[in-house]
Amino acid sequence: MKRFSGLILIGALAVTVAACGGGGSGGQGGAAAGGGDGKIVMGFSQVGAESGWRTANTKSVQEAAAKAGIELKFSDAQQKQENQIKAIRSFIQQRVDVIAFSPVVESGWDPVLVEAKNAKIPVILTDRAVDSKDTSLYKTFLGSDFVEEGKKAGQWLVEEYKDSTETVNIVELQGTTGSAPANDRKAGFAEVIQADPKFKIIASQTGDFTRAKGKEVMEAFLKSNPDIDVLYAHNDDMGLGAIEAIEGAGKVPGKDIKIITVDAVKDGMQALADGKINFIVECSPLLGPQLMDLAKKVVAGEQVPARVVTEETTFTQEQAKQVLSSRQY
Ligand code: AHR
Repeated sequence: MKRFSGLILIGALAVTVAACGGGGSGGQGGAAAGGGDGKIVMGFSQVGAESGWRTANTKSVQEAAAKAGIELKFSDAQQKQENQIKAIRSFIQQRVDVIAFSPVVESGWDPVLVEAKNAKIPVILTDRAVDSKDTSLYKTFLGSDFVEEGKKAGQWLVEEYKDSTETVNIVELQGTTGSAPANDRKAGFAEVIQADPKFKIIASQTGDFTRAKGKEVMEAFLKSNPDIDVLYAHNDDMGLGAIEAIEGAGKVPGKDIKIITVDAVKDGMQALADGKINFIVECSPLLGPQLMDLAKKVVAGEQVPARVVTEETTFTQEQAKQVLSSRQY
């Protein structure tokens, strides 16, 4: 097995390449390079570093790979699908044993996934799904049920306003346009609240899962809608940015405007414990250990479940106070 040391820059991509050539047992038993030191080589294409969740997810994957003795070729796509496609092609060229990636958006993956399949390199989807009809293009999908997360957010809202007959004006900060968590969290939430016409989504726009964009879009919402009752943000970071905008507008987050977010990262949980957020739906980023287990099985040619759903909970303000000190991320 050939080895290069140092960094190879592929186009504008920050793809860190520590070695060339697969080192493990040969992917699907076909053309992927085997032998060498026997270490499994995983090419991992991450979405980016847009949120606290993402940072925790990257750490989990990197630490779990080191612990499992899997050599990780890590690539940061900076929230761009074209970068992920380039990274996956690069992993195929390097003949890694397994490719894992967290697709920035749901559609447009079939051609590159067909290339991986033709090269007999198994693919694992982690965190986010693709909308490919051909499910043979990947071995398994490990991650949260985002529709369920949206439903949990909606259920809290319905319960919170169960005794009210007045209209509840909701603004929504969506995640990255076209991404599975944005699509599904929106759909799950809408499905639950539509049962009662008093709930009205008066504005809904993407904040790209970032704090800066969350603040910017919330400022615009506040300018054009004087009567906002509730903010539903698809992640903590956008919610935290929005809190700055709400405070800047002289309103009290958590009171004048009730806030529901998703993730439960430490900063979000702190804001929940402080009363600035009202409810958080957990989305766990700690996918690394399960991902490495699945990768070992897939490379060994073992059967794995087509779908592995992450276990998650929800947090009220009181619950946040109790668990804050023990949060891992
Ligand atoms: O795909 C998971 C989502 O991506 C997280 O909820 C969000 O914070 C991240 O950027």
